[in-house]
Amino acid sequence: MAFYEQEVDVLITEDKVQARVRQLAAEITRDYAGKDLTLICVLKGSAFFAMDLAKHIDLPLKLEFLGVSSYQGGTETTGEVRITTDVSKPLAGKHVLIIEDIIDTGLTMSFLLENLSARHPASLKLCSLLEKPARARTKVTIDYKGFVIEDHFVVGYGLDYAELYRNLPFIGVMKGR
Ligand code: IMP
Ligand code: MG
Repeated sequence: MAFYEQEVDVLITEDKVQARVRQLAAEITRDYAGKDLTLICVLKGSAFFAMDLAKHIDLPLKLEFLGVSSYQGGTETTGEVRITTDVSKPLAGKHVLIIEDIIDTGLTMSFLLENLSARHPASLKLCSLLEKPARARTKVTIDYKGFVIEDHFVVGYGLDYAELYRNLPFIGVMKGR
C-alpha cells in the first residue's frame, strides 16, 4: 500500500491531470504563436504543473519563478501578500503567462496581477490548474483553467498540506477534511 493511501483519496487521477495539461498546452501553443512567451511559475505549488505544461507547449518560451507568501489568518489568506523571490528579468514588453496551482479566495492572485501589470508587460494572462469558486472573495479571470473543484482541501501535483504531499502524481483530498 502506498504511504498516502490512509490519508488521501484520489480526486483527479494522474491520467486526467496529464490529459488536461496537454489540452491546455495545445491552446496556449495556438494562442501565443509568433509571440515571445514568458511563463511565470508561482512557487512552490505550481512547480509540477508549470514544468509539465512547459514541456508540451510547442513554442520558444522563457521560464521565470516567483515566490509569494500569503499571511494566514487561521486557514484563510488575509490578502496580505509578499513577494519572497522575484523574477530574474524585467517583464516590460513581454507576453507573460502566470502559472498558478489554485485560485481559492483569489486574494493572492489579485495582488500578483496588480503587481505584475504595473511592470508593463505586453500582455498578462493567468493559467490555473484548479479553481475553487465556492470560496472566491474577489473576481479573478482565469484565462486557462484546468479543473473547477468543490470546496475541498486538495493536495498533490504540487499542492501541499503542511509542505507534504506535493509529490503525489494525482490530485487528492485529505480524508476527513
Ligand atoms: P488564495 O486564497 O486564492 O489567495 O490562495 C492562496 C494559496 O493558498 C494558493 O495559491 C495555494 O497555494 C493555497 N491553497 C488554497 N487552497 C488550497 C488547497 O485546497 N490545497 C492546498 N493549497 C491551497
Ligand atoms: Mg500557491
